[in-house]
Parts: sequence; C-alpha cells; structure tokens
Amino acid sequence: MRVGVLTGGGDCPGLNAVIRAVVRTGVLDHGCEFVGFRDGWRGPLEADTQPLDVPAVRGILPMGGTILGSSRTNPLADSAAEGGRSGIERIADNLAKLEVDALIAIGGEDTLGVAERLSQTGVKVVGVPKTIDNDLGATDYTFGFDTAVNIAMEAIDRLHTTAESHHRALIVEVMGRHAGWIALHAGLAGGANVILIPEQPFDIDQVCDYVQKRFETRYAPIVVVAEGAHPKTVDTPVADAELDAFGHVRLGGVGQLLAEEIERRTGKEARAAVLGHIQRGGTPTAFDRVLATRFGVHAIRAVHDGAFGTMVALRGTSIVRVPLAEATRELKVVPPERYAEAEVFFG
Ligand code: F6P
Repeated sequence: MRVGVLTGGGDCPGLNAVIRAVVRTGVLDHGCEFVGFRDGWRGPLEADTQPLDVPAVRGILPMGGTILGSSRTNPLADSAAEGGRSGIERIADNLAKLEVDALIAIGGEDTLGVAERLSQTGVKVVGVPKTIDNDLGATDYTFGFDTAVNIAMEAIDRLHTTAESHHRALIVEVMGRHAGWIALHAGLAGGANVILIPEQPFDIDQVCDYVQKRFETRYAPIVVVAEGAHPKTVDTPVADAELDAFGHVRLGGVGQLLAEEIERRTGKEARAAVLGHIQRGGTPTAFDRVLATRFGVHAIRAVHDGAFGTMVALRGTSIVRVPLAEATRELKVVPPERYAEAEVFFG
C-alpha cells in the first residue's frame, strides 16, 4: 500500500513521534510505502509532497514541530476550488494521480472535519487526534497537552519568585480558546492563586479579593488565565478582528486587561506574561512521546485492517478506533466539578 501522511492545524509537540511510528510500523510490519504531504491540506490540494521513509524519520522522536510542515489551509473553503473542481475533488484527483491508496491525517477538529468529508466521498482516511488544548471529546488525552502544561507550570514556578521579590501580582496568559484544560492543570501544578477559564466567566471583584488576600500573606499572587476566559459582564473573549481559514478568531489580550484592572482596583502593581507559542514549541515530554507513538502504531494498523473513516483515540489506557464523525462532534470542556476542585486553592 502507498500511504500519504499529513499534519494540519496548529503544530504540537509529538507530531514527529506519530510520523515516525506510522512509517516504521508501516514499512517494517506491513511493507507499506509512504508519501509525505507538505503543510497540512495544502499538500494534497497542490500535490506538494516530500519523501517519507525509515531514514527520513530517524532522529525525529525528540523534535518539536513537524517535519511535514503544517498550515490551516481549508479545502472546504470556496477559495480552495480551482478550474470548476472543489477542494475535495482536487484532493481526490491528486491522490489518484500520485497513486496514494490511503491517507493518515493528523490534526485537530478542523483537520479531522475535512478528513471526515473526504471519507464520505470514498477517500480512504484514518485520523489521529492532535491538540495541545486537550479539548477533543472523543479521546481522553491528546499528545502535546502534557508538554504545554509542563512548560506553563515551569513558567509559573519562575514567576512566583520574581513576583514575590517585587511584591507584585503576575498574570499568566495561557492557550485555550474554548476549554481551560491547560490553565487548570498548569495552575494547579504551579500553585496559582486564581485560575480563570473560558467555561467559568469570572467576577473581577472576586478576582481582586483573591489578589488582595494573597498580598495579606507574605506571598505575591499568581493569576493563570486562559486566552478564551472573559468576565461575567462581557459575552465574548478578547480577540482581534482577524479570522483564520476555518473562521476562528485570534484570541489574546485578556492577561494585559486583567493586569490593568487589578492594578487600578487594588492599587498593587500587576504585570502580565503571555506564554503564547512557547507552549507549543520544543521537545515533547515522555508522556506525549509515548501517546503519540502509540497513536502512530495504531493508525497504520487501522489502515492495514481497512478500518477507514475512523480515528484512533485513547480511552482509559487503551487505544481504540472511533468513527471520524465522532472526532469533531463534542468539544471537551472543563466540567464545573473539576473547576470546583481548584477553587479551594484560590486566594
Ligand atoms: O488549537 C491550538 C491552539 O494552540 C489554541 O490554543 C490557540 O488559540 C491557537 O492554536 C493559536 O494558533 P495559531 O496562532 O497557530 O493560529
């Protein structure tokens, strides 16, 4: 079999571990050949490929990013149509031309949504879930999340000491558009005094109370805020006007706004630190390398078994196959009872 592989959407530590496991298992166990598609869906859309064999995946296990490149190119968008053919038709034609029998698409809800559409038209696709946000309902964990949490936790540890030296509040803004998993886990692991997540709109008076209380001890407050968090008085998160190809707004700025408001209301100095893409860069943790490797092994096994239209997922400690349709059905958000566990540490 000749199998195409692509990585789409925001990059994520562990992508290379998946690619390596797919290729090694495919070549050594099943005699497959591989074609690497460049930059997510742009690759099959424009027939942009790169060689992908066992030597090509040597040494990539500890590397962040993706050797295949990534993009948010959306084949379902009108702009993907060309010469009377839709983006989906162009991809199907290119796969046939390149004699690619099946495709492994590694990505989040957008990439997997396209995979599902392709699968409905008869293209043989298997999905692998990926997002540092850990918000895909069909899998207990996605790789990249553990790395992002560890990076954010280390930053919080460092911010504690400088905040205390200067008797100032530090507001740490982390990623998470709709789900506050990174904020919750990093905040708990880093001993934050307040954690603000998109699922629980916050009351700025209460946040300032927690900040004041903390200043009354000899320690300085650390507030962890997810980029999608917003006050009760406002319906939407802080965002700029730009939309990406899948129609998502670019979030960011809530940390700075909080710092200004806390300073104004409490009279104490407050500074914001935005971790941004640092959370997605660099080498994956052991947990993410192992999960990504297991996903890769099981994805190529699914191809070999002809289990197309499925995605590999972690349920408990087992890797299972779920319909691709399920991959994008439900966003996994932080349940109120999980947030309540953290609330006892606030202030
Ligand atoms: O979905 C993953 C994610 O890292 C989000 O947490 C974040 O909002 C978004 O991607 C930012 O992506 P980019 O800046 O690459 O468009």
